[in-house]
Amino acid sequence: MSAAVAGRLLRWYEGHGRSLPWRATREPYPVLVSEVMLQQTQAARVIPFFERFLGRFPDEAALAGAPTADVLAAWSGLGYNRRALALQRAARAIVAHGWPRSEAGLRALPGVGPYTAAAVASFAFDAQVPAVDTNTRRVIERLDGRRRAPAALRRRAAALLPAGRAAAFNHAVMDLGATVCTARAPRCAACPLRDACRSRGRAGDEAPTPRSPRMRFEDTDRYVRGRLVAALVRGDEPSVPGVASARLRRALDGLERDGLIVREADRVRLP
Ligand code: ADE
Repeated sequence: MSAAVAGRLLRWYEGHGRSLPWRATREPYPVLVSEVMLQQTQAARVIPFFERFLGRFPDEAALAGAPTADVLAAWSGLGYNRRALALQRAARAIVAHGWPRSEAGLRALPGVGPYTAAAVASFAFDAQVPAVDTNTRRVIERLDGRRRAPAALRRRAAALLPAGRAAAFNHAVMDLGATVCTARAPRCAACPLRDACRSRGRAGDEAPTPRSPRMRFEDTDRYVRGRLVAALVRGDEPSVPGVASARLRRALDGLERDGLIVREADRVRLP
């Protein structure tokens, strides 16, 4: 992508980028909270959780010092509750040692993988690094008309970054992938990069990622685990109507292993 094309993308973002609450700040704490919430959850679903969570735990010290049960209560409903435990551990590390400002330092925090580290480094600390998530990967692969291994993709993304504009560029590519260059029905006519795109108009033709036959969500362990945590948050017994006791026990074992519940002689509770 030439500098001109990157410029077009940034101009498109100014007019078409999504206005999302975590983009109104460069403070590292809300940026980290948002990126952890966004790891497995779509932006629209994250918004109300993000706002409530920040109301309840406005900074890293509040989160670090809160009872873990309260953190899980605020997270419950968003799913993948282990993220909440990791986020609280990250807050405790930050309170103890200060904010790591580099991508590598952020990467060492609990629950922070390569994408999240790059996103926080660029959004909060203005590090000039690309944050490559699935949207970014799809946009770049279509633009270039080829696939790349992760390390090569990252180098390619880094080469595309306009000098000094990493944060805007990362948001822009992410939004283009989420709203125009979508996986299944790309809207090439609305794309600011169409003239430079090798897959223009053909992007939807690639073999769709095969979807494994979907299990009903109610049949997954994740469902049972989420329901159990929600029951404990409400102060109810750890049970889920209609779920057999062997399945419940397996889910409780998993929750205990992950530190999401504590089992005592006569009861189960949140940590
Ligand atoms: N997905 C991951 N990070 C995001 C962000 N900062 N904005 C929107 N969607 C995202």
